[in-house]
Amino acid sequence: MQLRPKDRDGLPVAPGWLPGVGHTAALMFDMPWVAREAEKLGPLFWLQMGPKVWVIASVREEAFAIFRNKETSSAHLARDGATLVGQSVLGVDGESHRRMRGAINAPFTPKGLTAHKAGALMAEVIVPRVAAWKGRDQVKISDETREFAVDVIFRMMGIASDALVEWRKAYEEYALALLPLDWEFPGSPRTRGKAAKRWIDENLQKIIERERGHDPEQSLVSAMVNGRDEQGRGLSAQELLDNLRILVFAGHETTANTMAWAMLYLARDPARWSRLVDEALAADGPPTTPDALAKFPFAEGVFREALRLHPPVPFDSRQTEQPWSLFDRTFAQGQSVGLILHAMSRNAERYPEPHQFLPERWVSRDKKPGPIETAQFGGGPHFCLGYHVAWLEAVLFLVAVAREFGAQRKRPHIVGDAMPRPIYMPLQRPPGSSAIRFG
Ligand code: HEM
Repeated sequence: MQLRPKDRDGLPVAPGWLPGVGHTAALMFDMPWVAREAEKLGPLFWLQMGPKVWVIASVREEAFAIFRNKETSSAHLARDGATLVGQSVLGVDGESHRRMRGAINAPFTPKGLTAHKAGALMAEVIVPRVAAWKGRDQVKISDETREFAVDVIFRMMGIASDALVEWRKAYEEYALALLPLDWEFPGSPRTRGKAAKRWIDENLQKIIERERGHDPEQSLVSAMVNGRDEQGRGLSAQELLDNLRILVFAGHETTANTMAWAMLYLARDPARWSRLVDEALAADGPPTTPDALAKFPFAEGVFREALRLHPPVPFDSRQTEQPWSLFDRTFAQGQSVGLILHAMSRNAERYPEPHQFLPERWVSRDKKPGPIETAQFGGGPHFCLGYHVAWLEAVLFLVAVAREFGAQRKRPHIVGDAMPRPIYMPLQRPPGSSAIRFG
């Protein structure tokens, strides 16, 4: 068997390398081990992602500089993930990115979410779903959170409640086109995925046409379709389509996994569950505006702590656009550079007892979380567009669960007792079998 190359260009290659797949398998099943062992070799190390791409990576906070995007870009995302990313904000940089973000940002700010009653819409989807858990022997937590998180995004895009099942099915099929399987024949994953993408695009196009020319104040999707940046520039037809299509992928599984982890930690921790219940029952109902989040500092702490321990995007990367230096090392133009956010989020110098679930570390602080503390949402110009959506949705969900079951003096337990082992890539999540029960 081929042995792991020890170094490339004078930098160590991280342990966990296998012929053909590089570090992909090790990162997927034990990213913390790869990060721990690699860090012993130095502040920078090589990771091979899949058969072709070599990335120079780090776990140190200094490497957060990759997100500044002065010398780096996200061009590699548009290149390697063209099917998904297209001409959306994710893969575009510089002036085009500023124009697009400028045009679509408003509805995702606290003010925009309030104006478009996004919280009421989330509550409409989430509260009845949580109430329906009563009387069930167990709740497969990540399946449940994934299902309502995707419905929340669909509803925000103006899709009617009675069409949600059809849209969910289409996106499940579309995900097949993203698998690295190139064969096309009737019924093959790629063929089915492509057909689903055509259906999605046709129906997104109908939404765009319906909303075009409407008052941007009217709805969140109208604000995106008709939004303009400060210089009055909007999005082209293709850009609109690609951005609307990607919103579902960017916005549902990330939030869903965070909510699932939060519930799993609470299920092991009666004292913190109790504190959440006290906070939730002291209020009139779950928060439906970003302003109302101030009443739920502990629920916010649970959200931030679940994110810190299990960032849904545990590894993020950029491409250098010019020669660029980090830790006394200069990279050539076109080099992929990455940061293991999972390891950085557990830095003991910043977070004492880094592996413990301590939501209270976020409570009663006199300043808002800074860029390193919100790094689970990326940084720089590509910082997550949905940060305020995720925060509102997750706290609303936690408060809804605590009110529903806390009032009946029931608390969550993990079915099988043990905390599930995460799957780290492509998004960090608990295994689909992870379940909780209330009693
Ligand atoms: C806990 C929940 C979430 C997490 C952890 C998360 C994480 C991230 C991260 C790490 C990035 C940066 C990607 C990069 O560097 O290339 C990002 C970007 C993005 N996110 Fe989120 N996200 C979450 C929820 C959401 C939601 C709810 C939405 C939409 C409603 C959303 C929409 C987006 C979009 C559109 C981008 C691309 C922004 C750009 O490139 O300018 N995300 N997110």
